[in-house]
Amino acid sequence: MPTKLLLNNEHIPGINTLQVYRNNGGYASVEKALKQMTPEAIVEEVKISGLRGRGGAGFPTGMKWSFLAKPAGVPRYLVCNADESEPGTFKDRYLMEKIPHLLVEGMITSSYALGCNTAYIYIRGEYFYVSRILENAIAEAYAAGYLGSNILGTGYNLNLYVQVGGGAYICGEETALLESLEGKRGNPRIKPPFPAIAGLYGCPTVVNNVETIAAVVPIVNNGGEAYSKIGIGKSTGTKLISASGHINKPGVYEIELGIPVEEFIYSDSYCGGIRNGKQLKAVVAGGSSVPVLPTELILKTAAGQPRLMSYESLSEGGFQTGTMLGSGGFIVMDEDTSIVKNLYTFTRFYHHESCGQCSPCREGTGWMEKIMHKILDGHGTLKDVDLLWDIQSKIEGKTICPLGEAAAWPVAAAIRHFRHEFEAYVMQPSSIKDVKHYYRLNNIEPIPA
Ligand SMILES: Cc1cc2nc3c(=O)[nH]c(=O)nc-3n(C[C@H](O)[C@H](O)[C@H](O)COP(=O)(O)O)c2cc1C
Repeated sequence: MPTKLLLNNEHIPGINTLQVYRNNGGYASVEKALKQMTPEAIVEEVKISGLRGRGGAGFPTGMKWSFLAKPAGVPRYLVCNADESEPGTFKDRYLMEKIPHLLVEGMITSSYALGCNTAYIYIRGEYFYVSRILENAIAEAYAAGYLGSNILGTGYNLNLYVQVGGGAYICGEETALLESLEGKRGNPRIKPPFPAIAGLYGCPTVVNNVETIAAVVPIVNNGGEAYSKIGIGKSTGTKLISASGHINKPGVYEIELGIPVEEFIYSDSYCGGIRNGKQLKAVVAGGSSVPVLPTELILKTAAGQPRLMSYESLSEGGFQTGTMLGSGGFIVMDEDTSIVKNLYTFTRFYHHESCGQCSPCREGTGWMEKIMHKILDGHGTLKDVDLLWDIQSKIEGKTICPLGEAAAWPVAAAIRHFRHEFEAYVMQPSSIKDVKHYYRLNNIEPIPA
């Protein structure tokens, strides 16, 4: 049986209610933390666990928590990032919908560890119905004495609020989220200062993903060491994967980090293989921002080792031959998928969602969408493929927030691994017959593979 720490009770009827949740061991971490542990001891357990942020970047959570400034007389905040707008990612929604109390419990235990008396869950606008589920769970937690003043008679106070966003992808970026939470337009802030020093209302703030905060519950219950023994290397614990695309069993799976990608795709415990007996063509392993990999590179590293579902293994080879675990949005494409069409939908998305603050992202995403449109329309030339490559290379690293990279990486990877598809697209309707001839004619250096 696969190890499950978060979704182990997902099929119990009524698990979304406080009573059933508590009958199945719920809120034990709050009892243990508030009555038996100091805040510092909890931070230490989280460090020992090796837990890494599940929002995409994989930054060590214990380390992030220990950076939190603690100036006297200044409030500190915990903000849960439930914006989840990355295409292909829907695991946080699943967790909040199914087991809302797990997030509420994690928020209480984590807030206590960080010395926060006010905490927020910032949830994307399109998840309005999920915000209602959370509100109900929070009301139950208040009524049972897990929230409010003098929680469980320990003298600890915590108020927890749900804030619904306006439906903008950029508000998932943590500083844009804080701006939005403050009632302003969700533009990312220039860093430093980082939120741990000056976050919400200028006060020290920790921003963590839904799954990260939920994982604090089993860490406090079972200890950081037990958590660190699950998984592989520096990819400890379990991870929720949103599996979608041309597979037999799309859905949200909790995996132990380190299982082979091949097992995840083909095993009946997970995706159950490719739909209609087709062949696998490519996978976007960590949400739309991460580089797409063709079959031969997603199943095996360039060194011929089986590729594993872990931070390290997926990124082995850098962007030449690897990708990223990211937010765990695992999009599977079969042999009939057009990478060009797929990329067009991604470029449209990033153009639509760019906040417009930085010129390379604002202009670059627009041009990438326009060129992709031109190619799909049958008016593209081989020069346009080179232009796409050129534009993406001028966005990366030149913007305030990583939405620029998120927009550039899919374009770079699609051209790097599937250039022949772009060439076929532009060659068919045009009169150019031979790519090499075209290169010679225009004195163009082919883009290195
Ligand atoms: C454009 C953009 C969108 C993001 N969207 C999300 C999101 O929806 N959820 C999330 O947890 N992190 C998102 N992030 C990452 C956050 O900025 C931040 O790193 C994360 O919330 C930290 O939590 P963690 O350490 O628990 O992963 C996004 C980042 C960028 C640049």
